[in-house]
Amino acid sequence: MKNVLVTGGAGFIGSNFVHYLLKTEPEVNIINLDALTYAGSQENLKDLPTRGSYTFVDGNICDRSLVSSLLKQYAIDTIVHFAAESHVDRSIAGPEPFIQTNIVGTFTLLEAARKFWLDEKGVSGQEVRFQHVSTDEVYGSLNPDESAFSETTPYAPNSPYAASKASSDHVARSYAHTYNLPLTITNCSNNYGPRQFPEKLIPLIILNALEGKKLPVYGDGQQIRDWLFVEDHCEAILAVLKKGTAGETYNIGGENQPTNLSIVQTICDLLDEFKPDPSISPRRSLIDFVTDRPGHDRRYAMNIQKIRKTLGWQPKHTLQDGLRETVQWYLSNTQWVAAIRTQQEYQQWLTQNYTKRETKR
Ligand code: NAD
Ligand code: TYD
Repeated sequence: MKNVLVTGGAGFIGSNFVHYLLKTEPEVNIINLDALTYAGSQENLKDLPTRGSYTFVDGNICDRSLVSSLLKQYAIDTIVHFAAESHVDRSIAGPEPFIQTNIVGTFTLLEAARKFWLDEKGVSGQEVRFQHVSTDEVYGSLNPDESAFSETTPYAPNSPYAASKASSDHVARSYAHTYNLPLTITNCSNNYGPRQFPEKLIPLIILNALEGKKLPVYGDGQQIRDWLFVEDHCEAILAVLKKGTAGETYNIGGENQPTNLSIVQTICDLLDEFKPDPSISPRRSLIDFVTDRPGHDRRYAMNIQKIRKTLGWQPKHTLQDGLRETVQWYLSNTQWVAAIRTQQEYQQWLTQNYTKRETKR
């Protein structure tokens, strides 16, 4: 791993990965290709470690000639593919960009890698690696008594987002199987931590609760997610890049499965502790049960035995510690918060997604 193309490195997980990689592997050259959609921001890439080499390219993964020329120009040997449309509610409101970026964009990258690495350079499996970053949502929804998702759980994606990620996983898998493209797939559970765009549950609740706004909980709030601190995800990806076997899939998760309601309550309590405000505390009183998400998956849980046993990775952060660190990050990074909050597109999204949701109880 010397010249690494990171796609989507201005988004939440991608930017955390760029920070993490420059910190832990300072001899690598990182090329960050990102289209800077609403979810990507240069704010996420401020204060990068000065060690290592880093280049930003403002461009789209669907642009085949750009992708091909980057592979050649920078002699890319490793691709870590994060770029995606990533929010389920937006995929319900408008699925088209999900099909374009997540399916066509992934195909474009795979095809460019196949042509450059296998056809032009004739490299061996040891020299190059394509790491496709995916989600647990491809497996569908679990009933309360069902076992956690493993790498052999059949795919059953329920939202347009999950279906687009599942499609991209299948295309990626076919490139490993048919062409022997040296490729790994990771399916990870819900991430949280610094730099997450506040359309997702945890940062949305932190920012609303800080301002004394209502805290929208969909349906009965008893849905379950498996939460992983983002730096643990970055560490898992690096373990897969270094020690993972080409052609394999690895599930990554946090091994904790609280209900959405309990996550929201914990955030309220943390903010009451860090930022007591008699006019809005206790912040639990701001919780508002609203119209549910259509087709809302009830429960996700990850079985991480494979990555634990074969690569020796396991999460380092407990949910309690990770949430404390996350809430403190949003409290300390006021400039980041102000830049995102004032984004017109973000305000439009809040209006579009929340004004029609009725309070249910
Ligand atoms: P994000 O929405 O925060 O960031 C996505 C980034 O991709 C943004 O910087 C955006 O500008 C960029 N992008 C979007 N379309 C692009 C295009 N066509 N060309 C180039 N860049 C483009 O997403 P995230 O939460 O950081 O997720 C990153 C990856 O991890 C995604 O593939 C997602 O499916 C996967 N994942 C996310 C989670 C999670 O909890 N957030 C969990 C498991 C897997
Ligand atoms: P989200 O962060 O959007 O991630 P995902 O849908 O990929 O799991 O949502 C996490 C959970 O929180 C999910 O069950 C939906 C729920 N949720 C709310 O209850 N209210 C909200 O305002 C949002 C954004 C999500």
